[in-house]
Amino acid sequence: MFERTLRDGASLRPLEPWHAEEFAAHLDRAREHIRPWVGPGFVTDDLDGARGTLRGYAERQAADGARLFGIWLDATLVGGVMFTAFDAALGCCEIGCWLEPGAEGRGLVTPACAVLLDWALGTRGLHRAEWRCRADNERSAAVARRLGMTLEGVRREFWPYAGTRYDKQVWAILAPDWTARAVQPPRGDARRPSRSVAPTATEPFEYQRRVC
Ligand SMILES: CC(C)(COP(=O)(O)OP(=O)(O)OC[C@H]1O[C@@H](n2cnc3c(N)ncnc32)[C@H](O)[C@@H]1OP(=O)(O)O)[C@@H](O)C(=O)NCCC(=O)NCCS
Repeated sequence: MFERTLRDGASLRPLEPWHAEEFAAHLDRAREHIRPWVGPGFVTDDLDGARGTLRGYAERQAADGARLFGIWLDATLVGGVMFTAFDAALGCCEIGCWLEPGAEGRGLVTPACAVLLDWALGTRGLHRAEWRCRADNERSAAVARRLGMTLEGVRREFWPYAGTRYDKQVWAILAPDWTARAVQPPRGDARRPSRSVAPTATEPFEYQRRVC
């Protein structure tokens, strides 16, 4: 299977049913950290639940729908990114992400999402990629902002959690905007040549951080 280097020691790979035990062990480390912020169906409690999630994504991928990718840091599964929705006919997708607490703040998820955007908006020719998060999820909104997404609106009191209904933000980026971000030289660096493709995961992340 393929592997994309995100930075030293960190890589992005498909997360598939044969990873069920590894995924279940990772969820034991991540569960309470991600529970307030992700869909309840993703936060399973045991090996069967973890396997069910991976099988569900595999089935949806087989129909050219949702897809799931893991992030490994020093050989340990620490989180991932996904297409929670992928509709080639409509030209739209939605991207999601999660990390276990020890993997936060290391610059893993933004370049992993850039790989997905490259593929969806470039290789697959989709037109629009969305990002949805609880309005008080500052770290998630920061990823959307770093990717160059625009906050398009708020679904008021859409998200019920622990007896409270939270607002949900909808962010998005369109294919021409993703490509344009890639071809502009970073501010203050006139020497940097233009690129013909969107930034991807390895060298590109530092590049993206500077154009934000
Ligand atoms: C949302 C979530 C994935 C974001 O994780 P994150 O670590 O903040 O995002 P990234 O992996 O892109 O890393 C960016 C951070 O790494 C830091 N960083 C450290 N080293 C870095 C490097 N070499 N390069 C780039 N950034 C680096 C950045 O400064 C930034 O931290 P800051 O925001 O404190 O300044 C994480 O908070 C999470 O899993 N939350 C719970 C689940 C969740 O909310 N999922 C999303 C549902 S919508």
